[in-house]
Amino acid sequence: MNCLEERILKDGIVKEGNVLKVDSFLNHQMDINLFNEMGKEFAKRFEGKNINKILTIEASGIGIACVVAQHFNVPVVFAKKSKSINIDGDMYVAEVVSYTHKNTNQVIVSKKFLSEDDHVLIIDDFLANGCALQGLISIVQSAGGTVEGIGIAIEKGFQPGGQIIRNLGYQLESLAIVESMDASTGKVEFRAQ
Ligand code: G4P
Repeated sequence: MNCLEERILKDGIVKEGNVLKVDSFLNHQMDINLFNEMGKEFAKRFEGKNINKILTIEASGIGIACVVAQHFNVPVVFAKKSKSINIDGDMYVAEVVSYTHKNTNQVIVSKKFLSEDDHVLIIDDFLANGCALQGLISIVQSAGGTVEGIGIAIEKGFQPGGQIIRNLGYQLESLAIVESMDASTGKVEFRAQ
């Protein structure tokens, strides 16, 4: 079991509706030492890949991506969520539907910060249905860049996102894959990896 899985068992809280609260260490209060260990693990899993940029999405991906980036020595670009329909031609744009929040955001990245020369590692905190990831992949494709890999902190293995993204042929590495969780007992089970 890795340090993220151990921390989920210690401090994660299972809520009704298959929601895992990890706000005491991952996406509200942030444990930077844990993020650093996660960065080390991603560096191992993506060793030998030619990565020159990390792409994430606001809000909760940013903190993790910044610490992980120190292990790759590359800059971080984050996609901004925007409700505005007046987006000018200087931006790459993708639509992201959130099943959890039941809304749609346009996510945008300035054309200044992504190009065909970029070999991108995408980082995010959660993978559930995969909509956010598909938006980020489409932004890299619009720029003509290459997705070298995708690193996720927590994948909900019982939701379809992981399989969709792996079926597209990407190297997707999730540090903790939750197979099941039970709000009545608080029990969380991980996929062996
Ligand atoms: P998807 O991005 O994989 O398609 O998933 P979905 O639309 O279902 O998720 C929407 C938001 O809910 C995402 O955050 C995602 O990180 C978060 N989420 C999904 N499942 C869980 C969970 O079990 N626990 C927690 N804590 N979050 C979950 P977001 O609102 O887009 O981003 P942010 O602004 O919070 O970073």
